[in-house]
Amino acid sequence: MGAPGTDPVGRPTVRVDGVAKVTGAARFSSDEPLANPAFAYLVTSSIARGRIAGFRLNHASAVPGVLDILTYENVGRLAKPAPGPDGKPSTSTLEDARIWHDGQIIAIVVADTYEAARAAANLVEVDYTREVPSAGFGSAGAMTEPREAGPAGNPQRGDAAAVLATAPVRIDASYSTPPQHHNAMELFTTSCAWDGPQLTVYEPSQSMWGSKASTAGRLGLDPDQVRVVSRFVGGAFGSKGPNPRTAWVAIAAKRIGRPVKLVPTRDQGFTVATYRAETRHHVQLGATPDGRLVALTHEGWEVTSRPSGYNVAGVESTARMYACPNIATAVNITHADRNTPGFMRAPPDTPYMFALECAIDELAYALQMDPVEVRRVNDTQTDPVAGIPFSSRSLTQCFDQAAARFGWGSRSAEPRSMQDGDWLVGYGCATACYPSNVGPAAVRLSLSADGKAQVALAAHEIGTGAYTTVAIAAAQGLGLQVTEVTVTLGDSNLPPVAIAGGSNNATSTALVVAKACERVRSQLAQAAVTSPDSPFHGRDPASLRLENHALVGSNDARESLQDAVGRTGQRLEVYAENVPAGLPHGAMAELMQGKFAMLGGTARKDVTAYAFGAHFVELRIHRRTCEIRVARVVSAFAAGTIVNPLAAHSQYMGGVIWGLSSALLEATDLDTSAARYVNKNLADYLIPVNADVPSIEIIMVPERDTRVNPLGIKGIGEIGIVGMNAAVANAVFHATGKRVRDLPIRAEKLL
Ligand code: MOS
Repeated sequence: MGAPGTDPVGRPTVRVDGVAKVTGAARFSSDEPLANPAFAYLVTSSIARGRIAGFRLNHASAVPGVLDILTYENVGRLAKPAPGPDGKPSTSTLEDARIWHDGQIIAIVVADTYEAARAAANLVEVDYTREVPSAGFGSAGAMTEPREAGPAGNPQRGDAAAVLATAPVRIDASYSTPPQHHNAMELFTTSCAWDGPQLTVYEPSQSMWGSKASTAGRLGLDPDQVRVVSRFVGGAFGSKGPNPRTAWVAIAAKRIGRPVKLVPTRDQGFTVATYRAETRHHVQLGATPDGRLVALTHEGWEVTSRPSGYNVAGVESTARMYACPNIATAVNITHADRNTPGFMRAPPDTPYMFALECAIDELAYALQMDPVEVRRVNDTQTDPVAGIPFSSRSLTQCFDQAAARFGWGSRSAEPRSMQDGDWLVGYGCATACYPSNVGPAAVRLSLSADGKAQVALAAHEIGTGAYTTVAIAAAQGLGLQVTEVTVTLGDSNLPPVAIAGGSNNATSTALVVAKACERVRSQLAQAAVTSPDSPFHGRDPASLRLENHALVGSNDARESLQDAVGRTGQRLEVYAENVPAGLPHGAMAELMQGKFAMLGGTARKDVTAYAFGAHFVELRIHRRTCEIRVARVVSAFAAGTIVNPLAAHSQYMGGVIWGLSSALLEATDLDTSAARYVNKNLADYLIPVNADVPSIEIIMVPERDTRVNPLGIKGIGEIGIVGMNAAVANAVFHATGKRVRDLPIRAEKLL
């Protein structure tokens, strides 16, 4: 490491790929040039439940330029069913005649041009055998059952029911959150090209090795026959992993003997990809008059498709948030005639922490206590479920720093007591959290005698700044400038990295890059100490470090990289694998088979690892129209080592903005009689625009965590959104005295 303040890690760094992105040079998947491509267009089901009785394709086939029409009748047996996001059974697409949900892929038209494919798709006629669909919670025919709990089960401790019955202060409330759909800028595109037996897939992906394994498995290929390329992703958020579409596009390309490009439309994205399902919650809190929790229960309900057991089960987090001796949790899933849901930014924590953090606010008012104080008295350094320490937990520091900056002290406690002309003013706060997950990873890294480094691994740039994070980690380890490191990502031919999900990416890639850099240092040091022409001849190789373009010794002797690397050749290349402590050695082999090999922050035996934060919101609600305007937000986060504070600031802000959206705007509307989404476009599916996004201040609370992992990185991808919806809802209550427990909160719920 160099002089204080000069380390690449922790220094704000502009993105190494920034210029490429803003100039259009960055190549997104559907930009990849293909030789003589044909174009695919999806035909989707117009009913939600039943069977296909028959197709009439004569009009569609007659459209000039149409090359092929794929249906279950001609290709159904060519691919195995695609698993859901949990790797288990899910709805089918072209495998058979079954219709599981509205908007299901039932045919794919391939033509010389996009326009011909689209025109023909509109002429595909389908006869259905219809059944009455169930849309979700409360629909006749929907089937609710307890979720299949994983190894940890649903967190339990003590006897929550008995203690609740006699608790001096009690809260008993139900909350709900709506379905939300992924609307990243980049659509769910897939291009496939064959070269003999070799298949190349250009697809936005946050799991390239997963996608490679899944596609190979479905097509009966050897994984080595499949290469997935995804150099840049225009927003993923959990939606861009292995999916049902890829194999069919590959089959289409094989059948016509040409590369095929599929770009589904925005509205198709609502039903051919995954989404955040609606949830319901029942929370009970028992407390002493001084605000200490004595019992907590949290039962959740989530919607999924008929065949899938996918669920997010955020009780894993809510049960661990506060010191509490008696805890009971449960999660149920409701099977309906819907597409299978999947990951969406902080999948468990966004809905479940909404319920808990609103309930804690309700408890504060019942106790006539400051909501910040309630969180302070229940703060803990020990995971109440597992009984082991948090690796570090700076929740109170986050509340203190954000409260001071926000001016929380000027709040008048009484609801509806702060006004500004015709506007009711509300202050609200809530806790943010996200588990610190980490995965195995491998990397190829080289250092040249001219002081340039090359790093290659199949990590994913999903908008978070992964190229830059990797460059920073390598610059740190090799004693170089960030600009001297060239990073290659986004190709499954490169060494594998876990899925870019669960906020593990920065941690997992930085750990393996650090390991590779150490290997380089060690080899250079070894060569130096055994070389008579080196100033380090005869020294202890462990005492040498790479710093400022040189091999440096403890007595400040230095040898230039030109000499140190030159001694071993023009370029020193290493390959390194890292399996984080706590994962079995087999984790690397699993990763190479495209499996989900990650160590969760709640799955460790030594510590429970989470990042924490605190959100503070001021909003204004017009006393007559009930128009809701957010005025300002101050959020503080402590997430261990921050690799790139500049990117982290943006990532936190993005999370806060999505949290505001989740609280006040976003919801997919369902026509419950047809089990159909009705606002499948960006005019009717509300997301925030600049005028909805007020001043947002981000505070990064310094935190040094020596237990979470050797680099102290906790990951920040998702925490920004968590709890933000509750902070807004709590501010709405403070402004109006009205508790809205059902998201999103719109004016009509306040009238
Ligand atoms: Mo995320 S929902 O882990 O991309």
